[in-house]
Parts: sequence; C-alpha cells; structure tokens
Amino acid sequence: MSLNSFGHLFRVTTWGESHGPALGATVDGCPPGVEIREEDLQVWLDKRRPGQNKHTTQRREPDAVEILSGVFEGRSTGTPIQLMIRNTDQRSKDYGDIAETFRPGHADIAYHLKYGLRDYRGGGRSSARETAARVAAGGVARAALKAALPGLKITGYMVQMGEKKIDRAKIDMEEIARNDFWCPDAQAAGEWADYLDALRKDHNSVGAMIEVVASGVPAGLGAPVYGKLDTDLAAAMMSINAVKGVEIGEGMAAAALTGRDNADEIFMGENGPEYGSNHAGGILGGISSGQDVVVRFAVKPTSSILSPRKSIKLDGSATEVITKGRHDPCVGIRAVPVAEAMMACVLLDHYLLDRGQTGGHRGRIG
Ligand SMILES: Cc1cc2nc3c(=O)[nH]c(=O)nc-3n(C[C@H](O)[C@H](O)[C@H](O)COP(=O)(O)O)c2cc1C
Repeated sequence: MSLNSFGHLFRVTTWGESHGPALGATVDGCPPGVEIREEDLQVWLDKRRPGQNKHTTQRREPDAVEILSGVFEGRSTGTPIQLMIRNTDQRSKDYGDIAETFRPGHADIAYHLKYGLRDYRGGGRSSARETAARVAAGGVARAALKAALPGLKITGYMVQMGEKKIDRAKIDMEEIARNDFWCPDAQAAGEWADYLDALRKDHNSVGAMIEVVASGVPAGLGAPVYGKLDTDLAAAMMSINAVKGVEIGEGMAAAALTGRDNADEIFMGENGPEYGSNHAGGILGGISSGQDVVVRFAVKPTSSILSPRKSIKLDGSATEVITKGRHDPCVGIRAVPVAEAMMACVLLDHYLLDRGQTGGHRGRIG
C-alpha cells in the first residue's frame, strides 16, 4: 500500500511528523536535466512558512529545504529526489495535555480508533506541517513545468474568509502579494484583517475559500474516464488538511444554471478555438481544453481554539478541551501556496502521462 504517495508518473511520497526531527518528500519521476536548486525551491516554501505575520501561527520555522539526492550539478538526474526540511521550533510541552484527550475537529480520535496509538505531539502525521513537504515537491514540479511548458502560470488566492467574499469586480492580481491574505481585492483584505483580529481575540477561528487558476495549460492533458484531470485535481486538493469541499469551474453553482447559460460557446480564433465563457473550468471530458484550469476549495475553521469545547478522554470520561499552542486563526491563508504546489504536481503528472501516451499528437481544426 502506498498511502502516503500521489501521482502516476510524477510521484510524490511525503514522510515525517510535526515534532519529529525532520519531514520531507521523495519525488520520483522527475524528468532528467531540469534545473533545480535549493534556493529556487525555498522561494515557494517561504510563501507557506509560518510566523510571517500576525494572522498566521507564530511557530517560527525557517523551513529550509535540503536536496539529498537526485540532483547533480544543479540538474535532475532522473533518479529519486529526496527533499528534507528539519523541524526546529517544536514545543511538544504545548501538547502534553492532549496525550490522553481527543481534540474536537482534529484527527486525534480517528487516528486512535484506527491505529490504537499516535504521535500526539503537534498532531503528528496529521499536522499541516506535512504540507511543507508538498510545497517542496511542488517546487520541483514547477521547475519541470517551466522547462516543458514555459507559458504555464499557476496563481492561488483567497476569495472568501468566513462570510466575507471578495468583490470580483475589484480583482487586481497585483494585490495578491501585497497583503497578508493572498487576496486579490485590496478592500476585502483590509476588512478581513479587522474581522480576523476580532475572531482571534474572541478565541475563535474561521473557514475560507481558495481559488487556484492555471493559465497556459495546453489542450489535451487528462484522459477518459478514470484518468480525468479534474478527478486528480479534486483528489489533490481534497488531500490538503482541513479541505472539506472542492469544485472545478462553476462547481456547485452549476446546479443553479440552465443549459443555455452554462454552455461555453466556441468560436474559431486566429490560433485555434476560443470560448465565450469558462463555466467548465478549462476541463471537458476530463481533458484540458486550453482554457484556464480553475479549481476552488473550502477549508473548515481552525479546530484549535482557546474556547472550551466538549470532548472525551482515552478512558471515556467527559472533559473540555482548550487547545493551546500556536495556531492559524484561518488556515486558508497558508493553504494557498500548498494548493498551488498540488496544482503544479498534478499538471506535470498529466503532462508526462499525455506525452507518454500520445507523444504530443493532437487533432487539428481548420
Ligand atoms: C496550511 C495549513 C495550516 C493549518 N494550521 C492549523 C492550525 O494552526 N491549527 C489547527 O487546528 N489546524 C490547522 N490546520 C488544519 C489541520 O491540520 C486539520 O484540520 C487536521 O489535521 C484535521 O484534518 P482534517 O481537517 O483534514 O480532517 C491547518 C491546515 C493547513 C492546510
């Protein structure tokens, strides 16, 4: 069983726990000759790194990535790439209270019921520190994509925090890097800051919605029917901690549309087909159409809050849990770079699968 791995040809296995000495990813299937340097991967890890502003966990981890294998003189050799990130700011004493108590909303009870034992420190394997390994692997995927598909661009951002949504008329992609929330609407970001401050001071937390768009994706990635690009994207996003819903393109809102409204009309452009809209989120029949690939997902509110919640102990007795430690009041913020990484891994995987099956052969129009 390979339950800690994902991907078909570009296969990523993550390993490690929150409070162990290190965690990381083994990346198998990266094509040879791709330029990969630690400092290039670090750029993506720095985006996910905790403690960067007051709206994320104050755990201070440098998240410095080390390449242990598979890269020689700055280029991938085609052999497994081992990536390691040392844990340096564990405070296991923060978690002593939960050794025998199940935190509501956390994986504690499910891990215990399944395995009968668990590394409770910081959530162990269920901790979102695992996502640092995904981001490192995503950096490798991005490097390979840059070489294979130079026009491809992946952009993630938050579109909703709690009940507060962005105003899509005010989207300015330049804004994403200018605020603490990866938010493309400057006004919304300002409102979210006060909103989240108030929730944190009230010992509460909130959920969020993240959108990831890949532009420059060539038509033809993905396959019928169990190899659908949208199936793998949904699975990849759903595998991120705290994700409770994933949609592609119009997603759940498609249920409220009529066929006339939902049809993405097709026109012949100078360089091939063009579409009047993108309700499909760039994927038809599981195969990319050449339009932007659009994925959206909801994360639940952070379970670790300083408000008492009812639970039980290992011996079955009732208790109340107040989760101390350092936590993200809205996990959506730091989920953005993770989602971009998952998008990169899935797109590279499907690029390699398509190259393997069709050798780049394409149908012609006109
Ligand atoms: C980037 C990221 C950071 C997270 N940080 C926290 C956190 O500080 N506190 C917390 O309770 N949950 C946090 N989570 C969510 C938990 O890891 C997650 O809810 C828990 O492992 C249970 O898994 P599930 O929600 O997928 O069922 C985070 C999730 C992500 C993606």
